[in-house]
Amino acid sequence: MTEPETMQQILQPTSDPAWVLSVDGYDPLRESSIESRFAISNGFLGIRGARAASRGARWVVPARTYVAGLFDVSGTEHQTPGLVPAADWLRVRFLVAGEPLLLHPGDVSSHRMTLDLRRGALLSQGSRLKAPALGLHARTLRLVSLSDRAVGLQLIQLEVESGTLDVTIEASFEGVELGLINDRLDQDLGVWHTTQTGKHLAMASEPSLQIDGRVHPPTALGQLTWSWSWTCRPGQIVRFQRFVAVVRSDIPNTDPGPKARDKLRSALHLGWSGVFAAHESAWAKRWHDSGVEVDGDAEAQRALRFAIYHLNSAADPGDESVSIGACALTGDDYHGHVFWDTEIFLLPFYILTWPAAARALLMYRFHTLPEARAKAARMGWRGAFYAWESAATGAEMTPEEALGPDRQVIHILCGTQEQHISADIAYAVWQYWHATGDDGFLLGAGAEILLETARFWASRATPEADGRCHIRGVIGPDEYHEHIDDNAYTNVMARWNIRRALDIAAALRERWPACWTTLAGRLRLDEAELKQWRSVADTLIDGLQPTTGLFEQFGGYFGLEDIDLAKYAGRTVPMDVVLGRERTQQSQVVKQADVVALLGLLPEEFKGDAPAVNFRYYEPRCSHGSSLSPAMHGLVAARLGDTEMALRFFHRTADIDLADTRVATDGGIHIAALGGIWMLTVLGIAGLSLRDDGIDIDPHLPADWHSLAFRVQWRGRCLKISIDQDRQIAEPTLEAGEPMMFSVRSSRHELRQGAGLQVSTAHP
Ligand code: BGC
Repeated sequence: MTEPETMQQILQPTSDPAWVLSVDGYDPLRESSIESRFAISNGFLGIRGARAASRGARWVVPARTYVAGLFDVSGTEHQTPGLVPAADWLRVRFLVAGEPLLLHPGDVSSHRMTLDLRRGALLSQGSRLKAPALGLHARTLRLVSLSDRAVGLQLIQLEVESGTLDVTIEASFEGVELGLINDRLDQDLGVWHTTQTGKHLAMASEPSLQIDGRVHPPTALGQLTWSWSWTCRPGQIVRFQRFVAVVRSDIPNTDPGPKARDKLRSALHLGWSGVFAAHESAWAKRWHDSGVEVDGDAEAQRALRFAIYHLNSAADPGDESVSIGACALTGDDYHGHVFWDTEIFLLPFYILTWPAAARALLMYRFHTLPEARAKAARMGWRGAFYAWESAATGAEMTPEEALGPDRQVIHILCGTQEQHISADIAYAVWQYWHATGDDGFLLGAGAEILLETARFWASRATPEADGRCHIRGVIGPDEYHEHIDDNAYTNVMARWNIRRALDIAAALRERWPACWTTLAGRLRLDEAELKQWRSVADTLIDGLQPTTGLFEQFGGYFGLEDIDLAKYAGRTVPMDVVLGRERTQQSQVVKQADVVALLGLLPEEFKGDAPAVNFRYYEPRCSHGSSLSPAMHGLVAARLGDTEMALRFFHRTADIDLADTRVATDGGIHIAALGGIWMLTVLGIAGLSLRDDGIDIDPHLPADWHSLAFRVQWRGRCLKISIDQDRQIAEPTLEAGEPMMFSVRSSRHELRQGAGLQVSTAHP
């Protein structure tokens, strides 16, 4: 293929509508949410999908480029460190006869922006710019490479349709002084540092222009500014290409400039087609490993593709010093902070489809252990109490105050009271190790996290006169109720955390005694302490009511006002706004899955018909005031066999980011909800669970889903699972690795490479 043909093909989005997300025209009111939805990212760089042909609704804010881990305190707005945007390296201006052509959306007769999910690229096409006496047809592409995460690429192709005029194209970086301090601005390189967090950033760039296939050298150069002037004529094909290489350094007083130039040089050496090919094949690998195919429900398929696209975009397996913020790198809501969202809603996807990414995310928690220890110690406890909101160092970042919906200042207590975060992290550590068998991780990091979080709980729970241990004064996942005692979610997760830590201590002693001696010595952990942990776990109150099988969400919850949420169907604001904070706190209205989340994570803690009993009690009382909530409900509904309800929760979750619902996506997509879609599908609808010797499924496919297929990785093996509802069979294929067990409910089979297996999924 010739170079122009390759370029033509690259600028053409994937033709299959199930692989693209498109938007036509321009709607200033919806522009911000479109920018979030159409963001591109590789886990290191994230760029909002601002139009090439407009400046979006926020006039002064360019196409924001976020760099993972680049946190700073802005100084003026608030004292909470947040992600600082880097300079917008995509800025292009047209000047006609020396006058800037302000590309107002109204000047664009047709404009379609397409997010190509398969190839991880944002394209625009068919834009006809109708400037006085000039007709241009433009196609654009931008990507941040999944193959070399430092590298970004921008391509613009202009076909001149009418007008013979002197024009100039000017390429620059915009917002070079937005939040970061300039160290130096060279012609092709900018180096900045943060004001308070000691980080450095370098961006090196090289744009070039070709007219009718011939390189046209820049007519003027400045600091990160290039311009080309020529006389354009009908029929001309103008191609603009720009590479950027971005490097962050966390070491104070270092200059990442030379490394950025090296990275740029390698990208230039590959050329745009080489960079694109490497990027495309990295995406093909991710789709191979993590794609989920649904036959029979195009809308569900689209929602899954969108979710998996953003999940694959959000992680960087090469960087253990960052994790994924609540909006990933698609916007600045939540300041880029990391919550339990990562461990509970994202890790299942990464553990089972991308273990290297899961490991890096958990290593971030290992590296932030010192801050978690310091937080516990500050509050008078032992072990590791992780930050509810975490940024670069793991120090607590939760703001202490915020404006409530009624514009009154409210105190935010999550940073001190939402303590389940420590158990959530321990849970993810265990799940990772259990699923991957990565003993190196366990010995080098995981065991220490499990032991230190268990130690936290053992010091946090207090024995009382009733002979039981209690954990008082917390906030559970349901944040409507603060300063509560014995939150079932927190206590059962804490008990589980302690018990798994004891299991790990026993396993280390038996299998890796030298390692245990070193670790126990370093943590000053002795037999007497382990005994105390065991006694805390055995006596910790869990809120289970033996007669009904119901877990009381927290002490006194059942005595609160019971409000029938059905009467508020159709409301357009959250329930705590409808009722007011005080009445909400005195009621059984729940913000999000709490006991239901416990049921989703630890189903084995619910015996007999307790899963259904608890779900039936709590589901109608949940107001889904958090985007995390519907997916967890859908997961549990699917496991309980209520497929219709599961599907309703599936679509409700998908709508959060894909439809213009009440949930605002202006400040970024809701990555936990997107992780929740994958969990609902694979862990709920396919009913996948892990055993010690293999994988179990218990499928409950919605009526329209003829089939569902996906891949997972388990202890070094790669497994494809296809579930055919019409024929009522599951076909697992072991694509790599040693034989393993595969079960559909109680029907157990050995699975080997090359040996086909079909297992009935029919319910007896
Ligand atoms: C939810 C939390 C969540 C946070 C970030 C809050 O509204 O209640 O559970 O961690 O948003 O997504």
